[in-house]
Amino acid sequence: MSSDAIRASAPLPAATFARFEKEVAKSPADQRQSAVMACLAIVQQELGWVSLDSEKQVAEYLGMPPIAVHEVTTFYNMYNQRPVGKYKLNVCTNLPCQLRDGATVLHHLEHRLGIKMGETTADGLFTLQQSECVGACADSPVLLVNDRTMCSFMSTDKIDQMIDGLKKAQA
Ligand code: FES
Repeated sequence: MSSDAIRASAPLPAATFARFEKEVAKSPADQRQSAVMACLAIVQQELGWVSLDSEKQVAEYLGMPPIAVHEVTTFYNMYNQRPVGKYKLNVCTNLPCQLRDGATVLHHLEHRLGIKMGETTADGLFTLQQSECVGACADSPVLLVNDRTMCSFMSTDKIDQMIDGLKKAQA
């Protein structure tokens, strides 16, 4: 994807700003920026990712410098800075997971999906990404599906079951 495509985005609809307002209302009037993470999450929920243009619209709405919003988007793994597949798989690559077959899990996923870390399958179904520690080292190796569903004690067999199940859900 070109950098222009990453920047481009249509104006956010009024319904999205109405959702922003509900989040802003949860904080004191002079602390609108407290809603920045919630607003970015709304953008991602509705568009699937957060473009630079969306960041600017959030910044303007909350009265923040665009760079401050960009810092939030780039700090947290959960915000997609470019379009991703329907299922985003984040494999933890930190040491405890890597000491318990995390690399095997990652390579098996790359093999099964035919993509490398950071790529999306041609059918738009899967995006493979790495993740920092998600605080579940005792359950390693772990991966997250769409930032919400944690899969623990992953093995090649469990990976196969998960991929088959997600593909079947599309059929
Ligand atoms: S290192 Fe993977 S969850 Fe902590």
